[in-house]
Amino acid sequence: MEKRLIIAIDGYSSCGKSTFAKSIAKMLNYIYIDSGAMYRAVTLYSLRKKFAGVWGINIEGIISGLKDIQIDFVYNSDKEEYETFLNSENVEREIRNMEVTAHVSRVSQIYEVRLRMVELQREIGSSKGIVMDGRDIGTVVFPDADIKIFMTASVDIRARRRFDELKEKGISVEFEEIKRSIIARDIADENRDISPLLRADDAIILDNSRMSVGEQMLWIEKLIEKKKNGS
Ligand code: DC
Repeated sequence: MEKRLIIAIDGYSSCGKSTFAKSIAKMLNYIYIDSGAMYRAVTLYSLRKKFAGVWGINIEGIISGLKDIQIDFVYNSDKEEYETFLNSENVEREIRNMEVTAHVSRVSQIYEVRLRMVELQREIGSSKGIVMDGRDIGTVVFPDADIKIFMTASVDIRARRRFDELKEKGISVEFEEIKRSIIARDIADENRDISPLLRADDAIILDNSRMSVGEQMLWIEKLIEKKKNGS
């Protein structure tokens, strides 16, 4: 039987991790898991329950709410994509809004939240044949992943891509606001005490500032080929 791999993709926010990971999963017929969507779903739940807001955060409330949170990824065959469900509700769109984005770094710093998400991620990954993207996939979730990639791109390029993506979805946000939000999330992701964004020693860096998705796919195809041939 063909060897099924675990492919871990970590890196900065808005540098195209999910587009890349989705394309790889499609190419290999693997499951794609967006671990950031799981932290976003917990954040959305916390905002709705008023455990988080502009006033601050109720950590105890969020921890006690974890047992009531069920997260699923359901394949939408029309869109040919996995969508995130929170307690059986499709929240794929809502978890991407600016309010969730503004609070997710804080929520994802809570130790108990990370513990639960990592547990769920490992459960999902136990069947292999998976591409998972996030911040700590190659370091914490799957330290033995077959392929580890650490993605990066310049802040301006990431802000531009995010701006274009939101514009296409009909969401109007100032370019400078997006840039500020990306910088703030980089700082939060890199500096949190638990599972900060860190390149695993054995992760391969992919700076895609000047690469198209097609070029990135050619690059990974070679890497996968090598891995499957045992080198
Ligand atoms: O990939 P994203 O921007 O959708 O992730 C949302 C937030 O979740 C991001 O600010 C950091 C956090 N995150 C995390 O802490 N660990 C992960 N494995 C994935 C995301």
